[in-house]
Amino acid sequence: MALASATSRVMMLSRRTARARRATTVAGRTRTTAVTTTATAATATATRGCVARAATTRATTRGRGCAVAARASEGPTFVTTPIYYVNDQPHIGHVYTSTVADAYARYRRARGEDVFFLTGTDEHGLKVEQSAEKRGIEPQALADENSQKFRDVMTAYDISFDEFIRTTDDYHERQVRALVKVLQEKDAVYLGRFEGWYDEGQEEYYTESKAKELDYKSPISGKDMVRSSEENYYFRLSKFQKELEALHADNPDFLTPSARRNEMIGRLNEGLNDVPISRTNFKWGIPMPDDEKHVIYVWIDALMNYITAIGLGDGKDSIVYADRSKYWPASMHIMAKEISWFHSVIWPALLMALDLPLPQRVHAHAFWIREGRKMSKSLGNFVDLACMDRFKEHYGLDAMRYYLAVEGPIGAQDANFSAERVQEIYSSDLVNTMGNSVSRTTAMINKYFDGEVRSEEANGARVTFDNWDWPARTSAHVQDALTAYDKLDLPRAAAAAKNIVMDVDLFITETEPFRMAKDESKSAELAACLYQCLEALRIAAVLLEPLMPNKMAEFDAGVGLGEGSIAQRTKWGGLKPGTKVEKLALFPRVEGLDENGHPVKT
Ligand code: MSP
Repeated sequence: MALASATSRVMMLSRRTARARRATTVAGRTRTTAVTTTATAATATATRGCVARAATTRATTRGRGCAVAARASEGPTFVTTPIYYVNDQPHIGHVYTSTVADAYARYRRARGEDVFFLTGTDEHGLKVEQSAEKRGIEPQALADENSQKFRDVMTAYDISFDEFIRTTDDYHERQVRALVKVLQEKDAVYLGRFEGWYDEGQEEYYTESKAKELDYKSPISGKDMVRSSEENYYFRLSKFQKELEALHADNPDFLTPSARRNEMIGRLNEGLNDVPISRTNFKWGIPMPDDEKHVIYVWIDALMNYITAIGLGDGKDSIVYADRSKYWPASMHIMAKEISWFHSVIWPALLMALDLPLPQRVHAHAFWIREGRKMSKSLGNFVDLACMDRFKEHYGLDAMRYYLAVEGPIGAQDANFSAERVQEIYSSDLVNTMGNSVSRTTAMINKYFDGEVRSEEANGARVTFDNWDWPARTSAHVQDALTAYDKLDLPRAAAAAKNIVMDVDLFITETEPFRMAKDESKSAELAACLYQCLEALRIAAVLLEPLMPNKMAEFDAGVGLGEGSIAQRTKWGGLKPGTKVEKLALFPRVEGLDENGHPVKT
């Protein structure tokens, strides 16, 4: 995969059908900016980096400022997690964000969409260099070791990523240099001098006023900032002030939840300064093009992973570009709130500077906390991987995924991790509701019909029971669940599926199939009743599949989840009469664990 002839080549997706090529001369040599479209490429028109796209008509509408691409529902889908720092050990936070992104990616695949799901590791920077030095190994060796740990976690927690990018991958590094060069050529990056304050832990610079406001202490670690003066390359962030304001003002769904958006609008109102994007105090990074004593700031390097993974920093000759450029703009960048500034201000500005369309949505969820306190190294209260693994072993992977999804900090509120709640949710939602309803229904089908699902029809018409219009009832819950998934409201999606199961329980209580079984003349009614129970459970299972893919695969093997997209499979009537089912026990009853995932001592 060769780098395109000019390293400065950036491909821009456009809805124009013809390919237009402009040749401009920059710094004495010819630079070609290709503006291209393929039939499959996302349709978008970039206007100073701002994109508007109508969802169904595919017409371009331009708002008063920047608008965000609204992709036609069946278009390619691109979902991302943050790339995780290799100097941290994986913990519940990483597992959580990846699980949320995974459920969303699985949901979009279930809708029949072409999904590209990206995760990976962020491997450069001073901290990695220092940690490696402490251990007496090369930074690359440390990065290899820890990146592998994150990859293993993703596999162990069934994260269905399509690519695991590493910022030390050659194809990423060369594209970052190419992209930074384009920024320089467009005069979005210049050489300047910084005087101010530096947060060594976060590798972040602060102006005098901001540092003063923070009492010259890192807002993350609390450590003193250090006075710093150095020559750096700067990104002209200030130039994008108006566009960024318009982006957030005009697109309330660009950054969610709204608390984060309000925060960003507040920060934007304070005014933007240009930001240094290079460092000279360490070596472990990607060198600036044509000035190797500077390395590219780790955040610029990291953010660009979202477009290098799909080849946008390469040229049209690159295989990665050919295969993946259609996925831009990203449908959803998912992360936690501490990095929303980088994703909803710096990143859009970089994309504007590169004349690339903006992502459709950035979702910055809140934090997992413990006993009301932030998880931190100093407090030693992380739900670390070993602890997570103990819960996973005990309850099963899908049960833990379900717990994370329904109790997690998906919105603006932090969420407490609590062993007691894990046990409660597991027992109430999974054992006593879904599990119990499935085992009861399949047991009755075995007992009364030798395990064969019969038809719900008698004399050519559906047998119905008072107040039980199942097709309408399930359809309302399905709509609720699908809308919730679309919005990334996983707790609500799960609740909609659970409501179907609770309806089945109520239906059994009201219709009393065990009584019907005692009366031979009610055989057709009994068959219809059990069909309706199992059919409703099948629909609930289809809705739960993005959250619990393994358990629902067991349901699929035992009963069948149906064929086609999620919309097709959740239509009433997908369960085939004549299907043979065995009694299915999905969730065994288990004892609770203590806060660290160990058996409770009695
Ligand atoms: N490398 C950067 C991201 C670059 S993306 C271009 C980074 N890495 S990180 O390893 O620190 O991961 C941060 C992310 O991990 C958060 O944004 C979030 O997704 C997840 N979490 C880390 N701690 C968390 C909690 N306590 N709770 C929930 N998620 C958290 O930042």
